[in-house]
Amino acid sequence: MFHKNIILFGGSGFIGKQLAFALANRGHQVTIPCRHPFRNRDLKVHPGIRVIKANVMDGIELIQLCQDQDAVINLIGILHERKKGDFRTVHIDFIKSLVSACTRSNIKRLLHMSALGADQASGGSNYLRSKGEGENLLHTFGQKDLEVTSFQPSVVFGKNDQFINRFASILRLCVGVFPLACPQSQMAPVYVGDLVERIVKTIDDPASHSKRYAVCGPEIFTLQQIIELIIKTLRLPCRVWPLGKNMSKMQALVLQNLPGKLFTLDNYRSLQTPNICEDADHCSTSLSQYIQDIGVLFSNKKHYDNFRRDSVGTNRDPSSES
Ligand SMILES: NC(=O)c1ccc[n+]([C@@H]2O[C@H](COP(=O)([O-])OP(=O)(O)OC[C@H]3O[C@@H](n4cnc5c(N)ncnc54)[C@H](OP(=O)(O)O)[C@@H]3O)[C@@H](O)[C@H]2O)c1
Repeated sequence: MFHKNIILFGGSGFIGKQLAFALANRGHQVTIPCRHPFRNRDLKVHPGIRVIKANVMDGIELIQLCQDQDAVINLIGILHERKKGDFRTVHIDFIKSLVSACTRSNIKRLLHMSALGADQASGGSNYLRSKGEGENLLHTFGQKDLEVTSFQPSVVFGKNDQFINRFASILRLCVGVFPLACPQSQMAPVYVGDLVERIVKTIDDPASHSKRYAVCGPEIFTLQQIIELIIKTLRLPCRVWPLGKNMSKMQALVLQNLPGKLFTLDNYRSLQTPNICEDADHCSTSLSQYIQDIGVLFSNKKHYDNFRRDSVGTNRDPSSES
């Protein structure tokens, strides 16, 4: 069955925007409820995407939003809490309301974004435990009323990510040494385009019902290796100072109390669990290749201009990335 009308929660985020375009290009009619539609005007250029202002945390509004939809995709998530209880509100309570809204609207198909290492009982951080609980809730309800598929990606990279691009912008300010917490944390970064392609292929595939898919990229890195790759690519006058356990915790304690919460104790705890897949069909796009070719260059005009100039006469044009 082709699920024509899809409501995409979290469609204004990094992964959500890429997914919205991929869905619309495949002929789906995508509705994105969000808090700040004016910040997401870039989505409106596609006739298959409708952006509307809504408070999705309001149960009644949620039911109204789900009317006349054929499927739901939920990407809403947060990496840290602004106030205590936010993980529960966003990762668990919202899921309960969503299931109820699907039942009321007779929606039978739901796709959900969890995270690698999410585990209600033994997740290493509040983030991972709350993501695990929300995912379990969906699959439990799913046995009765909904066909549920969930995805558990490792860290995701791509244009406008909050990972490579964020580190790149911080590293650009660094002269001398960059104190790096949790340098030995392992991850298998997934390219957002690969992840989105998998989600899109799954929507109408009955074989994916009740499945939880771990999604990893082709390479395993330590965090330090990734940072060194960025430094090398951008030719920055900076080298990594790997922090030990206590200093890493200390850094988290300080940063979580500063505006922007660049790094929190809960993030520190998440990083203690290796973010790699044991058994998974790995995605193909390599982070090291991506960084060299496109990734970080996007957020640095000088490097981007150099890259474009060097690319003249080749088929490589980073601006063609959607
Ligand atoms: N990026 C990764 O490396 C990664 C890895 C594993 C799993 N994931 C999971 O993938 C999902 C999407 O990640 P992302 O990187 O695209 O995140 P993102 O860019 O931060 O986007 C998060 C989305 O959730 C929405 N949201 C957050 N809190 C909300 C609230 N209280 N009410 C309404 N909307 C809210 C945001 O809306 P606004 O635009 O209004 O803020 C945004 O659309 C998340 O569930 C995340 O846990 C991501």
